[in-house]
Amino acid sequence: MAAAEVQLTVAGVVADSVRIAALGGVDHVEFSVTEVDRAALSRLSSRLLVSRREGDGLVPLDLDPATGLDDDLVTIPKYPGKTNEQFTQLLVSLATAQLEPRDEPYRILDPLCGRGTTTSAAWLAGHHGFGVESDQKAIDAHAAFLTTWLRRKRLKHKVSHDPLRRDGKLLGKRLDATVTDPVTGTVLELGILPGDTRDSLSLWGKRRFDAVVTDAPYGVVHGSQAEGRRTRSAKDLLGDAIGVWAQQLRRGGVLALAWNTTNLPRQQLLTLLEAEGLAPHNDGAWTELAHRVDSSIHRDVVVAVRI
Ligand SMILES: C[S@@+](CC[C@H](N)C(=O)[O-])C[C@H]1O[C@@H](n2cnc3c(N)ncnc32)[C@H](O)[C@@H]1O
Repeated sequence: MAAAEVQLTVAGVVADSVRIAALGGVDHVEFSVTEVDRAALSRLSSRLLVSRREGDGLVPLDLDPATGLDDDLVTIPKYPGKTNEQFTQLLVSLATAQLEPRDEPYRILDPLCGRGTTTSAAWLAGHHGFGVESDQKAIDAHAAFLTTWLRRKRLKHKVSHDPLRRDGKLLGKRLDATVTDPVTGTVLELGILPGDTRDSLSLWGKRRFDAVVTDAPYGVVHGSQAEGRRTRSAKDLLGDAIGVWAQQLRRGGVLALAWNTTNLPRQQLLTLLEAEGLAPHNDGAWTELAHRVDSSIHRDVVVAVRI
């Protein structure tokens, strides 16, 4: 996956130069580039060290993180059902590498956001993070952690955790926050709404997003929820929700989705995406992202562009 990430997110990688090699008994990814894309190299989700070969030696490259936010924003929270933070950073990179570069932060939506690993990874990458989550306890835990983290880091911020009402009905408590990046001064937004992901379009209204990035329920730890009851499979949920998410993307926006292929083979998912006006990448390194999470979860990743 690290080799595929290099091919898919780093500019100027020479075709067929990416290979896995051992150095002092430790595997690493080796590749040639025509230019040094320091920002993309800094974003590589599994990097410990990036070095340039000089003669027989290796010289470590100074990296250039997107923000001055500490990455313990994504590493401290630990809970059942959390999506691995490096994997989440990979999903964010795969999506944003497909968008045209711009100085403004992208608006990234995770419509199954749990306790916010994706929205936090979006912040670390310098983007706005938005979400929808049906488990109010997950939003409350996210709010409690983020409030403490922002205070302890002494960052300029705002945070609120207030009731959300629609048509006089209480839907739950939303979470809203902003943080000022201490390095660039950019103000990054966060917004999490309580509710069913199938209602994400009506919850978020006219807002459109540059990317939808999500790790779908595996049907093991997290069932998919319909009106608070675990009544439907993750496969049914994706069948219902992909069309909703597609409508929330602006044209040219990107969906990066991780799902358990045990219930839904890749080809079936590709058909679902195409039916909703999304053009999935399905060649070369795009097809090399599948991996085993445990005995019942075989996860794959698809990235598709809204036509
Ligand atoms: C695989 S987990 C994602 C975890 C998240 N990335 C994190 O690290 O916290 C899937 C999430 O989808 C939520 N979920 C399941 N069905 C849902 C639905 N119909 N609407 C909204 N959220 C749902 C679950 O409560 C769970 O938090």
